[in-house]
Amino acid sequence: MLSEATRTAIRSEVERYPHKKTALLPSLKLAQREAGWLSKDTLAEVADLVGVPHSSAVELATFYSMLFTAQVPRTRVEVCVQLPCALVGAEQAAEKIARAVGAELHGPPHRRHGVNADGTIEVGTTVECYGACHRAPMCRVGDDYVEHLHDDDAIASLAADLKKR
Ligand code: FES
Repeated sequence: MLSEATRTAIRSEVERYPHKKTALLPSLKLAQREAGWLSKDTLAEVADLVGVPHSSAVELATFYSMLFTAQVPRTRVEVCVQLPCALVGAEQAAEKIARAVGAELHGPPHRRHGVNADGTIEVGTTVECYGACHRAPMCRVGDDYVEHLHDDDAIASLAADLKKR
């Protein structure tokens, strides 16, 4: 069950919109922020709070790639490898970040990922531009951006922060 703080935040979202269903996506994001992923029970709880059918929550959660309907590592690092980032070493930065947290990247180019030994940190490359090309190479960690990942010091600092989470 979600915390009272998240339930209150979801009720506030519902009040912001003329149509309840519009509040579903931000509400699912709030629930995922707390739970880490969206189980069937969490989807049902959010749907009930928003006042829409459970099927609407399932449809939305399975449509958007940033919503997770299966358990994922608590910390996810998404390194942008679109052209502006790729030109300044994004792929190499992804490799170094993975190595620094004890993960090994595998998979096809531009879609590589790896998880560290205890399953708490996932590092992956993504084909989405996050709009921070002028501060490339960069990655997203949850809702935060970490930019200027040019050198080993920046990557070591990021890795130290990731291990503390
Ligand atoms: S290309 Fe990486 S943030 Fe835009």
